[in-house]
Amino acid sequence: MSKVCAIFGGSRGIGRAVAQLLAQKGYCLAVIARNLDMAQATADGLGAGHLALSCDITKEEAIQNTFKEIENNLGHIRYLVNAAGINRDGLLLRTKSDDMISQLQTNLLGTMLTCKAAVKSMIQQQGGAIVNVGSIVGLKGNAGQSVYSASKAGLVGFSRSFAKEVARKNIRVNMVAPDNGKKFPTSVTVLTVDCTCTPMWEAFEVATQAFEILPNGVRQQE
Ligand SMILES: NC(=O)c1ccc[n+]([C@@H]2O[C@H](COP(=O)([O-])OP(=O)(O)OC[C@H]3O[C@@H](n4cnc5c(N)ncnc54)[C@H](OP(=O)(O)O)[C@@H]3O)[C@@H](O)[C@H]2O)c1
Repeated sequence: MSKVCAIFGGSRGIGRAVAQLLAQKGYCLAVIARNLDMAQATADGLGAGHLALSCDITKEEAIQNTFKEIENNLGHIRYLVNAAGINRDGLLLRTKSDDMISQLQTNLLGTMLTCKAAVKSMIQQQGGAIVNVGSIVGLKGNAGQSVYSASKAGLVGFSRSFAKEVARKNIRVNMVAPDNGKKFPTSVTVLTVDCTCTPMWEAFEVATQAFEILPNGVRQQE
């Protein structure tokens, strides 16, 4: 069975950590970011057989081309991690409209677009799994992060609803909500992961395991 996984935002930080964990588990990875050199360096560090691609997730056509490229080089995509994200922190009164738009376009719309593109391949594969990376700020709020928080809170509703849409196609959608390196409260994931007081990097190990062990969030809630 295909273990091809696309990781948006896989070039550094959390996405790269997830890529490293998945590579160790035998997944075949497409590491995607806007900066191709960084993505390539990460892909090279994973060993042979992985792919690096440049894509801006705010651009739907670029995402579609990226998925075609992955399918041509690695095969059908069965797994997707959405770790690409930006923050432009500041009090709302001081936040420029452009910075509001870019956070919503990247963190929320970008994830919706990659999910939309990926699910076509997953339906053909008769199954798949998606992990979206949110933030604890999207659940609890934080002064100076109102727009970022809104983008991550939006992902909660999106992920829950999308999970319901695709559950009958044997596609699981989960979301993790990291807490900036601090200890987690009860919900590392918004939807399913039952994991208390886990440090951030361990939480991402949980996220990667979501592909293998977690049921669909919707099913667990119902
Ligand atoms: N680090 C934390 O403590 C923390 C806490 C809570 C939530 N999060 C969330 O976790 C995710 C990853 O965080 P991180 O700290 O690992 O971030 P990071 O180190 O800044 O990495 C962000 C990744 O996203 C990519 N990216 C950004 N904008 C993109 C775009 N428009 N199109 C494609 N790729 C794009 C970046 O590559 P390019 O710049 O080359 O495109 C990079 O690979 C984010 O969604 C963040 O909001 C992080």
